[in-house]
Amino acid sequence: MLVGFSLNGEAVEVDVPPTRTLLDWLREDRGLTGTKEGCNEGDCGACTVMVTDATGVRALNACILFVPQVHGKAIRTVEGVVSPDGDMHPVQDAMVDNHGSQCGFCTPGFVVSMAVGHLNGRCDHNDSLAGNLCRCTGYTPIVRAARAAENAPVPDWMIDEVPEVLALAGQPDNLDGFADWYVTNPHAVLVAGATDIGLWVTKRLEELGKVVFLNRYDELKNIQVRDGFLHLGAGVTMADLLPVLRDHHPSYAELVRRYGSEQVRQAATIGGNIANGSPVGDNPPALIALGARLHLRRGDIRREIAVGDFFLDYGRQDCAIGEFIEAVSLPAHAPALRCYKLSKRFDQDISAVCGCFNVTIDAGVVTEARIAFGGMAGVPKRARAVEVALVGAPWDSVTIETVLPLFSDDFEPLSDMRASMAYRLLAAQNMLRRYIHDLAADPVDVLKVRP
Ligand SMILES: Cc1cc2nc3c(=O)[nH]c(=O)nc-3n(C[C@H](O)[C@H](O)[C@H](O)COP(=O)(O)OP(=O)(O)OC[C@H]3O[C@@H](n4cnc5c(N)ncnc54)[C@H](O)[C@@H]3O)c2cc1C
Ligand code: FES
Ligand code: FES
Repeated sequence: MLVGFSLNGEAVEVDVPPTRTLLDWLREDRGLTGTKEGCNEGDCGACTVMVTDATGVRALNACILFVPQVHGKAIRTVEGVVSPDGDMHPVQDAMVDNHGSQCGFCTPGFVVSMAVGHLNGRCDHNDSLAGNLCRCTGYTPIVRAARAAENAPVPDWMIDEVPEVLALAGQPDNLDGFADWYVTNPHAVLVAGATDIGLWVTKRLEELGKVVFLNRYDELKNIQVRDGFLHLGAGVTMADLLPVLRDHHPSYAELVRRYGSEQVRQAATIGGNIANGSPVGDNPPALIALGARLHLRRGDIRREIAVGDFFLDYGRQDCAIGEFIEAVSLPAHAPALRCYKLSKRFDQDISAVCGCFNVTIDAGVVTEARIAFGGMAGVPKRARAVEVALVGAPWDSVTIETVLPLFSDDFEPLSDMRASMAYRLLAAQNMLRRYIHDLAADPVDVLKVRP
């Protein structure tokens, strides 16, 4: 596949297999070995590169990014973070001054993430560097270095011009064209952010056959607030969703803030997070608790279903051959929505249990309850027995304690490496206890211990 982009300021045109990862291409075909391979699955950030397009500048993991995904964009690797004359970038100077590197393996990835954060004026270093793992220096000197560089001007060599975006060979040009093409090519693999699919290639060594890159279709990236609903194209990334959620659903936003890492959030799409049918995806429980609707399309034919009805069984979704997710719509306001993610590690980890609660209370009595979980069954699923018992009951701790045993009627969770069955059931119950505190303006901060 013929792909064109800019690499460290130089126009490049390459012919690559569609699933050649950018990391392999940089290191093996281009000899740019500054970009490191650590985990090769999006977890460590050693392979971070800077990607610029018309919508902005982002840090992405090159190990789970296919070369055609950067068609028409500008790439800057750690080799391009120094000036063409060899002048160091302010974040590199700051890393030296603050002793931010020891073995140095993680350092190129950190430097690129820091340079992107610096260019974008980001000061939330704990969030923006959570996807870069360092196992010997420790984070204090690195974050100190990021802070020290905050006020330095952005070097002019870091401003990339975005190349002209031409059609990508063999791919339909627009969404309508794609929708028709997919009806006659239903076995093609739809690649959105590739934060799942990348691993099929790097870990399972799968040959994907025909692929189509959905990031080409701007129509899938639309975000609109209309008639009391948020309408999100399936290609909206977690990073683009985050500021919207902060305005509309702060608790859901906190869930997304802890989704993967900066690099993963910049790639992963809401459509991919639903379509993969994962029982531990973070968006589905929140969307089900909100009563969100899924918009599916096959050619010209569109249909709409509740997000919860999409998940039929483990690995089985209500999606016909040649059909794809076009959008999702959710209420713009739900003041009682609370989302709780429990994972082994606070940052950059998949949920062991994710519970989302949206209970309506009128004059002290529950009038409606939508409670959905990830990690408790083979699919994201509502706690129907608990919901039924809550509706009509007074909203108080006596009711809560009475309904807690019903979680065992709703769920028979697995024991796996993330959590045991007993732990999951207890965690789900404790989340409901947490929710009543939260609605009573006495929120629990899981990072703080209190008497
Ligand atoms: C390091 C790391 C951390 C992660 N952390 C989290 C986390 O905290 N929480 C979480 O929930 N997930 C997490 N994930 C999983 C992953 O990010 C998500 O499942 C992601 O949302 C997938 O979206 P994508 O756009 O990358 O999909 P892709 O990988 O491109 O595709 C995933 C699947 O969806 C299909 N697909 C994509 N778009 C559509 C569409 N519009 N219509 C129909 N089918 C479609 C693809 O064909 C494929 O089958 C993590 C992944 C990594 C690598
Ligand atoms: S090599 Fe670890 S995130 Fe890419
Ligand atoms: S300096 Fe060794 S892993 Fe970070």
